[in-house]
Formats: sequence, C-alpha cells, structure tokens
Amino acid sequence: LNYRTTRYETSAARLDQCPADTGREVAFAGRSNAGKSSALNTLTGSSSLARTSKTPGRTQLINFFPIDEEHRLVDLPGYGYAKVPVAMKQDWQKHLGEYLEKRQSLVGVVLLMDIRHPMKEFDQIMLDWARDSQMPIHILLTKADKLKFGAAKSTLIKIRNDLKEWGDQLSIQLFSSLKRTGVEELSARLDSWLLA
Ligand code: GTP
Ligand code: MG
Repeated sequence: LNYRTTRYETSAARLDQCPADTGREVAFAGRSNAGKSSALNTLTGSSSLARTSKTPGRTQLINFFPIDEEHRLVDLPGYGYAKVPVAMKQDWQKHLGEYLEKRQSLVGVVLLMDIRHPMKEFDQIMLDWARDSQMPIHILLTKADKLKFGAAKSTLIKIRNDLKEWGDQLSIQLFSSLKRTGVEELSARLDSWLLA
C-alpha cells in the first residue's frame, strides 16, 4: 500500500461514532508519549497528519486515517499520562476495550513502547488481551536512536526471546521516527495484515 496517500478522516469518542466497520484497519496503541503520532507521521511521510496533543491524556479520542477506500490506520489515545485522574483512565479503558473487542475491521495492533521503558503494565494488559482474542501484534521499540545500536539490538533480542512462545502471532522490531529507521519493516507488516 502507498501510505503516503493516508489522510485524516474523523475522531470518535465512542464506538458508535467510528466510521463504518468495513474493510480492514490496523490500530496503533501504546502508553502516552511512546511515539504513536510520530510513527504515523513518519510512515505516511507527513509531518502533521497525527497531531501531538498539547494536553496529553485529556482527549480521549480514537483517530481514523484512511489510506484508501478499503484500508485505514487508527491512532488510539495514549495511556498512562500521570496527571489523568483515575476515573478518566477507567473511562478510557472502557472505550478502548469496547473498540478492541467489537471492531470487526481491526486486523492487527501495532504496540509501541519506548525502548528505554519497555513492557510496562499497560503493554502487558494489551498483550494479555491480544492473546485472549487472538489478535496479531507487531511491537515497535520506539526512539531506538536514544540508545547505542548495540544496546538497542540487545533489548530487541531479549524481548523477542521473552515473547518467543507467541510464534507467528507476534513480531517485534526497532523503530526511530527521528532517524527514520524501521519504516520499511513496519510497512511490510502492515501490508501483510491489510492486504491479506
Ligand atoms: P500521546 O499522543 O500523548 O499518546 O503520545 P504519542 O505516543 O503520540 O507520542 P508522540 O509521537 O507525540 O511523541 C512523544 C515525544 O517523543 C515527542 O516529543 C516526540 O518528538 C518524541 N519522539 C517520538 N518519536 C521519537 C523518536 O523516534 N526519537 C526521538 N528521539 N524522539 C521521539
Ligand atoms: Mg499521539
């Protein structure tokens, strides 16, 4: 697919506000500040497609980005922003849970983790859910430029080894929006899900 044709369509606060549940879509999930919006912009070659919220955690919206008539990328709200009250976190979990469980066109989840802070509680919750629902997962270890290459590589190898019992349901790679590394590997994975 040509990800450079991706545009913004709409934002939804609840499942019933999402675009028609047809075709195929892949969602980008991860803790707040993991680099979701940056990764979407890097993939699509657009510096301003997915905006970084000035008040992270406040907007509880699911953002839809059609690539073409049949295929979409979805930017999920970031999780774990420290200043968000507990009630808001619960609300977020409810809407995200509803989206993940009921959305028929969702064919895979890209789970982004800052390579310096991988496998936090939110990530484990997402992985547990993915296992239960047999949803394919592709992990991006983001901001790989923050580590020396050897350290980034050994983090990759360790996490890949920890998750090896997942088999084909899960894959993992290094990614940097700053250095634009890992873009081809990501688009190949998205192609495999969206064009299957
Ligand atoms: P929320 O919308 O709050 O959930 O955050 P997000 O996951 O969309 O993160 P975002 O893309 O807004 O990036 C958060 C911060 O990390 C920004 O200051 C980015 O500039 C920075 N950042 C993102 N990707 C990279 C990267 O690959 N390398 C470096 N060094 N910084 C990055
Ligand atoms: Mg964002």
